[in-house]
Amino acid sequence: MLRLVKPSKKYLPAFVQVMDDYISDDNHFGRGGIDPLIQAIQDNKADEYLQKLADYEHEEKLPDGYVPESRYWLLDDNEFIGSFSIRHRLTPKLEQWGGHIAANIAPKHRGEYSGFIGIKLCLAQAAKLGLKRVLMTCDVNNNASYRAILGLMKMYGGEQISDSFVDGHGEHRVWVNTIN
Ligand SMILES: CC(C)(COP(=O)(O)OP(=O)(O)OC[C@H]1O[C@@H](n2cnc3c(N)ncnc32)[C@H](O)[C@@H]1OP(=O)(O)O)[C@@H](O)C(=O)NCCC(=O)NCCS
Repeated sequence: MLRLVKPSKKYLPAFVQVMDDYISDDNHFGRGGIDPLIQAIQDNKADEYLQKLADYEHEEKLPDGYVPESRYWLLDDNEFIGSFSIRHRLTPKLEQWGGHIAANIAPKHRGEYSGFIGIKLCLAQAAKLGLKRVLMTCDVNNNASYRAILGLMKMYGGEQISDSFVDGHGEHRVWVNTIN
């Protein structure tokens, strides 16, 4: 059964099981929740990195220009399925590219609806944070992400707004309600 957990040392072995798949993954969308974790493990600094993730949920511990963010890992029993981030609010930059929720499913589990289900679970967490709707964005060439987002918009309600154009690429932008 799929569940979201807060990143913790006890789940690191599950991530390590899929780490090589991520390292050889040639899909470069949404790596923000993955590459720093790989780097920390390789540098033997996983504990520090996990503490940083915990700190990033709190306004007073954030670097300048950051908004609070909650990281979740999606597990199936004890198997690592994916990583999700929920930003508690938007910045002008996140409004253009990034939005509230970022997702990355382990390569071997893509296309099994885990992304869809994981984002659904994140919508419930976002509702607990007081967000009535979340902005989801994806590269205009990221079909898997776009279809997952449109499926969620259909299920929960929401609206697609104009694409943004950032750093030389287009982003679809869709608001999705957090309660259906
Ligand atoms: C994007 C991502 C989170 C989607 O999760 P997923 O588990 O692979 O996707 P799902 O199985 O939930 O499928 C969601 C929809 O995408 C479609 N889909 C899945 N893989 C696809 C692919 N490679 N190409 C086109 N459509 C695809 C599914 O058919 C489904 O659409 P449908 O409901 O219309 O049938 C996942 O593929 C991923 O982590 N990709 C790499 C990182 C990334 O792109 N992150 C998002 C950055 S915005």
